[in-house]
Amino acid sequence: MTLHITDAFGRIGEENAFAVLARATDLAAQGRDIINLGIGQPDFRTPEHIVEAAIKALRDGHHGYTPATGIKPLREAVSADLHKRFGVDVSPDSVLIVPGGKVTMFMAILMFGEPGAEILYPDPGFPIYRSMIEFTGAKPVPVPMRESNGFAFSAEETLGLITPRTRLLILNSPANPTGGVTPKAEIDKLVAGLARFPDVAIMSDEIYAQMTYDGLEHQTLLAYPEIRDRLILLDGWSKTYAMTGWRMGYSVWPKPLYEAARKLAVNSYSCVNASAQYAGLAALTGPQDAVRDMVAEFDRRRRVVVEGLNALPGVSAVTPKGAFYAFPNIAQTGWKAKPLASALLEKAGVATIGGPDFGVHGEGYIRLSYANSTENIRKALARMGEFLEQNKPA
Ligand SMILES: Cc1ncc(COP(=O)(O)O)c(C=O)c1O
Repeated sequence: MTLHITDAFGRIGEENAFAVLARATDLAAQGRDIINLGIGQPDFRTPEHIVEAAIKALRDGHHGYTPATGIKPLREAVSADLHKRFGVDVSPDSVLIVPGGKVTMFMAILMFGEPGAEILYPDPGFPIYRSMIEFTGAKPVPVPMRESNGFAFSAEETLGLITPRTRLLILNSPANPTGGVTPKAEIDKLVAGLARFPDVAIMSDEIYAQMTYDGLEHQTLLAYPEIRDRLILLDGWSKTYAMTGWRMGYSVWPKPLYEAARKLAVNSYSCVNASAQYAGLAALTGPQDAVRDMVAEFDRRRRVVVEGLNALPGVSAVTPKGAFYAFPNIAQTGWKAKPLASALLEKAGVATIGGPDFGVHGEGYIRLSYANSTENIRKALARMGEFLEQNKPA
């Protein structure tokens, strides 16, 4: 028997964070004491009032399909929330509720990717961008995120990579895996420069929008009216409300693309789980103190991580300005990033992710998620220090 799966599946990638999680879980099941700084999800429970709203929705009989675009009150709540946070006007009719932030990038890349097209994406960056670009047959064009630039986008470098074949530019700030935040002045410059390229669509992944530190305010791309007719916003509940397992995300689309996105929804998942949508509604309309507390806790841990990393031999870390990741430079340890991440897990019991899992520009770095207790973070840093003192690369 020969099953003829399409060539595209020879090009699709994945997220190594899930493989590291599986290995860490295996080792823990064998009795090893593993500290997981690999996975990108908050270590908090979803706030209780959100959980209760989902239970109530189930009890109230919300068991059927909803509109493919999401229930109206939720789309209205997203619109109100965007207005409250950024002062921007977004019609509820341009909001699409999707099963997780990832689905927005899946749709956007499917819409613009095909052989002959080029798509720009941050490198190091969320691995699914490149994976999906390759899947469509488009050419992935990495935009380097440089440590010397605080892992932010450089407007000049980004604009310089645009060609007549460029269809889509993917932005992400605050960023995974680096914690980099692109300053407003640089975004202003980028948007101004994009006026020269009116045929390039923009997808702004702002899933970490509420996780910025040092008083920094998130700069949304929605705030630029001149690009709204070609801007796709990606956001969701996963990180902000500690809801990764609920699969709740949303996107804002310009009118002509909204219809295409809605059709993709109808052709794939029909609609998002009804009770989860009611949970999402409670999250947006209810008290926000759990979000503030969680971000304040991440901020405290951030300081511990950065200070601890900079005290390790051969390691230096810039202070991340957003998200919950640190991306230390490990080049001076003599280790390559992936062998180091692997040895740290197997020998020191600390799960991290090698920078190359986020793109070619990730060599020389590893990613640590500080979604773990301060006590565990301190323990992990001590283990890493001991490991680096005692083990030199082969
Ligand atoms: C930058 C970025 N975008 C999107 C996502 C996807 O989020 P979700 O779990 O809601 O699909 C993640 C998750 O790690 C992320 O880091």
